[in-house]
Amino acid sequence: SIRSFIDPVELRQEIANLKKAGGKIGFVPTMGALHQGHLSLLQQAKSECDYVVASIFVNPKQFGPNEDFSSYPRMIKEDLEKLEEQNVDAVFLPNARDMYPEGFQTYVDNEEMSQVLCGANRPGHFRGVLTVVIKLLNLVNPDLAIFGKKDYQQLKVIQAMARDLHLPMSIVGGEIVREPDGLAMSSRNLRLSAEERQQAPRLYQALEGVRESFNTGNREPKSLLRSFQKQMEGTGFRLQYAEIRDQEHLVEFTAEIDKPAVLAVAAFLGSVRLIDNIELGI
Ligand code: PAJ
Repeated sequence: SIRSFIDPVELRQEIANLKKAGGKIGFVPTMGALHQGHLSLLQQAKSECDYVVASIFVNPKQFGPNEDFSSYPRMIKEDLEKLEEQNVDAVFLPNARDMYPEGFQTYVDNEEMSQVLCGANRPGHFRGVLTVVIKLLNLVNPDLAIFGKKDYQQLKVIQAMARDLHLPMSIVGGEIVREPDGLAMSSRNLRLSAEERQQAPRLYQALEGVRESFNTGNREPKSLLRSFQKQMEGTGFRLQYAEIRDQEHLVEFTAEIDKPAVLAVAAFLGSVRLIDNIELGI
């Protein structure tokens, strides 16, 4: 059955023992309220590693002052049951006072890719993410860490950190898991009213519309984005951003799309902020 660790020192010890036994360690960090999106990353880790470690920590440093840190869903009992069911070997449940003791003063930041998309709208968010992720990676010391493409920019800035800081592990992406109606799974979906939940799939439908246009040969970012915005009209969503950028560096296209791209969107339904994206392969 699953072993849970609150103390970082005990976690380290356990993992050191596993490594001595020669096992390959896979790691999936989360903030809990687990759904099939998280579980798919754990399954991917299971298929590639001998031991799978998950973490659950609602990281205060990645939430802005007016964001939903205090109301973020917390359901540790249900989460532990799901992790057991997936045969996850260990779960790390650190305390905020162990992660950020008095005197904590060292952060990791990204200077370029973190400034656009979500980073432009959530100042300090990726600094908080990178800081907690490097701490978790240092504690778990996995061979492989998996992050969902649902948070596309997050995956890219974490991969850049791993490269720039010589982290000795591979960081890979997992595909987006969606509800049957197309809505990307998210812990924040729990916050949608019944009416908003009905409207929510329109976001993915609009993304799919753009993909069709792309697949039939439209390579003009401006035209693709116009058609996206048009499809979002009357859906109840308030767009925060919708942009097409290259997959590798998250740079905008000045002319036609000539390398693998991603259409990334953030939009509000009522007070709930949803993000989604689709890759436009070339
Ligand atoms: P959280 O939102 O809990 O997500 C944990 C991981 O699950 C992330 O890698 C995220 O991209 C992935 N994920 C979420 N929904 C998904 C979906 N529908 N399909 C596939 N993957 C999905 O992202 C975070 O937590 C935090 O920022 C964290 C990395 C843990 C740092 O605090």
